[in-house]
Amino acid sequence: MILTNVFRRYGWRYANRGYRYALIDTGHIGENLRLTARSLGLADVAPGRFWDDRLNELLAVDGRSEAVCAVHVVGIATRGSSPSAVARSLLPVASELTSAKPTVRYHRATRLEPGEGAPAPIDARVSLLSGQGLRPEPSVEECIRRRRSAGAYRDHPIGRDQLEWILDAARSRASEVELLLAAHRVRALQPGFYRYEPSRGLVATQLGDMRARLVKACLGQDKAGACAAAFFMIGRLREAAQAGGDRSYRDLLIESGATGQRIYLAAEAIGLAARNLAAFRDNDLNARLDLDGEKRAVLHLTLVGHEA
Ligand SMILES: Cc1cc2nc3c(=O)[nH]c(=O)nc-3n(C[C@H](O)[C@H](O)[C@H](O)COP(=O)(O)O)c2cc1C
Repeated sequence: MILTNVFRRYGWRYANRGYRYALIDTGHIGENLRLTARSLGLADVAPGRFWDDRLNELLAVDGRSEAVCAVHVVGIATRGSSPSAVARSLLPVASELTSAKPTVRYHRATRLEPGEGAPAPIDARVSLLSGQGLRPEPSVEECIRRRRSAGAYRDHPIGRDQLEWILDAARSRASEVELLLAAHRVRALQPGFYRYEPSRGLVATQLGDMRARLVKACLGQDKAGACAAAFFMIGRLREAAQAGGDRSYRDLLIESGATGQRIYLAAEAIGLAARNLAAFRDNDLNARLDLDGEKRAVLHLTLVGHEA
């Protein structure tokens, strides 16, 4: 299954930021594919490395207004197949890159051509929604079909076990995407910002009522303060670029979207509701979370709570 984006569909509304949204959305949709395949006992491999022009040509899309952004290969896995992982840096073509629109620049700057890069390794590090403690009934498919973005939130706390269940499902497979958390209304957890470390659990980074600050950084969107908790997907931009070249920017956005989708489905599975909130003032939000915005930056934000 090949996922393309028609960038104008995001750009008319979100301008430059549309590129992020497009790739994040690709991550959300791809995660549904991956989880569905896994729940059917199939393997889903999503190689982040492909030669853009060849695939675009194959699909008869121009690679500018519409471009392939992800490929999911679904089937029955054979043992022992392990393609080598090479992710190399791409040298941007200066003249082409300075004149084009931002979307085209980002996408071209992260393009692979024959001879560059190689298939990414089979992604076997995935986990289904398999948190501990809570044992929700609905299947992955039911959650995917049922879930809707919350319109508004009730002023009601969620349990810490619910939060931990969601965190467990949300855990990122890519080490370059970290999870930070704002707890507004979580039983047995003081309000504040927390870092989630799979080995240590929740580590408080700043305690206090963060609701008003978060609403402000999110362009006055009330939901950012009305929800029970907000999950921030943080990209380690510099480390990712050093390891995987410019194209890693795509990887980070897609992985942030995939993480957001796991949060959506995990919330749905236990009777809560999620909503993405990727419209935020970057400098403001990064500063609140003590991120410099260059090495590490917020890429995506998903809220969770009881729907009103
Ligand atoms: C990348 C991305 C960013 C989003 N940002 C916001 C946002 O800032 N504020 C908001 O209210 N909804 C935001 N949304 C949520 C969408 O508006 C919501 O998913 C859409 O209304 C579709 O509803 P559904 O999820 O129920 O299908 C975002 C969704 C995505 C994928």
